[in-house]
Amino acid sequence: MKSTGILGVGHAVPERKLTNADLEKMVDTSDEWITTRTGIKERRIADPGIAASDLAAAAAQEALERARMSPSEIDLIIVATVTGDYVFPSTACLVQDRLGIPNAAAYDLAAGCSGFVYALDQAWHGVRSGAYGAALVIGVDVLSRITDWQDRSTCVLFGDGAGAVVVGPVRDGFGVLATYLGSDGSGASKLYIPAGGSRQPLTPETLTAREQYIRMCGNDVFKFAVRVMEDATLEVLRRAGLTSGDVNLFVPHQANIRIIDAAARRLGIDWDRIVVNVDRYGNTSAASIPLALSEALQAGRIKAGDYIVCVGFGAGLTWGAAAMRWDGREAYR
Ligand code: UT7
Repeated sequence: MKSTGILGVGHAVPERKLTNADLEKMVDTSDEWITTRTGIKERRIADPGIAASDLAAAAAQEALERARMSPSEIDLIIVATVTGDYVFPSTACLVQDRLGIPNAAAYDLAAGCSGFVYALDQAWHGVRSGAYGAALVIGVDVLSRITDWQDRSTCVLFGDGAGAVVVGPVRDGFGVLATYLGSDGSGASKLYIPAGGSRQPLTPETLTAREQYIRMCGNDVFKFAVRVMEDATLEVLRRAGLTSGDVNLFVPHQANIRIIDAAARRLGIDWDRIVVNVDRYGNTSAASIPLALSEALQAGRIKAGDYIVCVGFGAGLTWGAAAMRWDGREAYR
């Protein structure tokens, strides 16, 4: 098996900001409620006409530049998303064409907010086995298109964005050390979209009932999230032969500052080792972890040899964690 890890990271977010003050004018909410319950102050919203592949391609382009690699070196593209441009074809194929990546295998993967870690796991296995030379892993979501802007319990939470990494060979002993993925489909209806799939196609009635938008049992997802953030982190650390004391940087899914805080306390990880940007972007679903990782690199918070743990949870219900040792070929060093 070849040592395999992240060679470059990039991200892209829409320019338009939606603040808590803006939301106060749209639904019965307040900056005070949103800030204390979630930690979110603003989020980015894609303009009409901007789709997942637009953000994904921009993030991937930056990741390739940071890795100093050309599109022709990529032979696998995995896009984690639940808001692809179309039901089919995959958004990965649109990115393949947009970036001029010749003949790469390309597919989308739906694991909600855990999607990036799921896709990273697949790319890691694909490259380390020798089946692929290098992969692009992209987490992207345009949740604003599936958000019910009349539902104050969900619309204050979400935002749009993309993050991307190039996965390829690294020095021995570096790169991804272990992954851990899991699911519990008995919680499927805790976070889902009722209509628009094969179980309930869109009809005038489903549209009137606003069933084309996200429905969530926030409290149940909250409790699930705190539990799996801790459990998944401990399991991936065990698989990597590490303890939480070894972790230089913890990159959790950015859903709610209270979930991050509760998980960090349980794991004994202090704030200066945690990446937090939920205040500026809200919950960007599959984009959240690579977006946080990209910003941490740009801020100089990661150096060669650092141990990093990424952990996510989301619709499915799903969870996923990855532990890695940073190689440092990445251009921000
Ligand atoms: O990526 C995975 C996706 N999802 C998540 O990670 C979400 C996980 N869950 C959460 O983050 C939290 O459960 C929420 C932020 C969604 C909600 O926080 P909470 O502390 O669990 O609040 P709650 O749902 O128990 O609601 C408390 C009250 C309710 O009023 P009553 O029934 O107590 O009178 C809600 O109606 O807050 C009310 N409320 C709001 N008030 C003002 C709900 N949303 C709002 C709002 N503004 N936006």
